[in-house]
This record gives sequence, structure tokens and C-alpha cells, in this order.
Amino acid sequence: PRSIFFSRHGESQFNVEGKIGGDALLSERGLQYAKALPKLIKDNIGDAPLTVWTSTLQRTGQTAQDLPYPKLTWKSLDELDAGVCDGMTYEEIEQAYPEDFASRDEDKFNYRYRGGESYRDVVVRLEPVIMELERQENILIIGHQAILRCLYAYFHNLPHEELPYIKIPLHTVIKLTPKAYGCDEERYALPI
Ligand code: F6P
Repeated sequence: PRSIFFSRHGESQFNVEGKIGGDALLSERGLQYAKALPKLIKDNIGDAPLTVWTSTLQRTGQTAQDLPYPKLTWKSLDELDAGVCDGMTYEEIEQAYPEDFASRDEDKFNYRYRGGESYRDVVVRLEPVIMELERQENILIIGHQAILRCLYAYFHNLPHEELPYIKIPLHTVIKLTPKAYGCDEERYALPI
């Protein structure tokens, strides 16, 4: 049976600083994750074919750089666009846009950043990615927190209210193996 692997990019400079969005490079720890990832994947699938999908952002390409498989870059896999809040910390957003911050808390799935996107928008832009995923064999997606929440919710059939709160930790590979109904799941966390 074919599998779909999900991983967030390794820890980025922005993750360290608590800033959202941006196009930062990996931190030292993030680079260590990128170094360790090839063996984790190889131990799991052996010589089976695999294609790696990344976003257009540097942190996903950097995480994939040592993986010896064909790669494809999707603009549709870029992180949720936080608009005017891009590059800010949650504290700074709460200070600058208190009402927005509260509405996001009330309805996180539908909240759209000023000049940016909502989770609902991201679900729509991911439709072509999901169509292609359904047709493919083994795929590893090196993605972003909000994006992987949407893909994960699709494969596990989770409701919109739960989707923005799904836990997708850093430095962890999530393996989904679709069955007749639903998916089997395994998680591999690297102690980095
Ligand atoms: O902090 C990392 C990050 O990927 C941000 O770039 C993004 O805005 C955020 O997570 C999405 O998570 P949440 O919707 O919980 O703010």
C-alpha cells in the first residue's frame, strides 16, 4: 500500500523568535533535522520510490536538501498568508490588532488576516494538491503547520472546528496509509 508522509520544515529562525509567516532560513536545530531526515525515511520505505513535495519557501527546500528523491515545488503549499501580520509575534498582533486577535480566537477556521488568508481559504487553494495526492504513489510533503493541518484533516475527515488546532509538532514525520475507510497513522519523532 502506498503512504503519504507529512513533515513540517525543520525549526526556522522565525520559529525561534516566535514570529509567524516570513521566509526565514532554518536554525541550527532545524538543519540537524534536515540532516537526520534521509535516514528516517530510508529506514521506513527502503528502496521504494518516493517523490518529495515542498512549498516555494526556503525553509522547506532547505529541509528537503539532502533527500535523494525527485522533488516538486508547489506554490499552493506555501504557509497560510498572515497579511499585515506577517513577520509579527502573537503578542505584537494582540497589541496592534486586539479586535482581530479576539475574532480569530472565536472562529479560527473562518478568520481571515487583513490582506491575507483564512484556514477556509487555504482548504480551497489546496484542492488541486489533494487531487494530485489522490492519484500519486508514495509522497513526502515537507510543509508548514497550517497547511499540514488542512491536509491531515482531509485524510482523517476531521471537522472544520477542530482543524486549526490539530497538533503537528516540529521534527516529526507523520505517516498516513490510506485504507478502504480512513487512514492508518504512525508518527516518528526525532529527538532534535
Ligand atoms: O508559527 C509557525 C506558523 O507556521 C506560522 O507561520 C503560521 O502563521 C502559524 O504557524 C499557523 O498556526 P496558527 O494558525 O495556530 O497561528
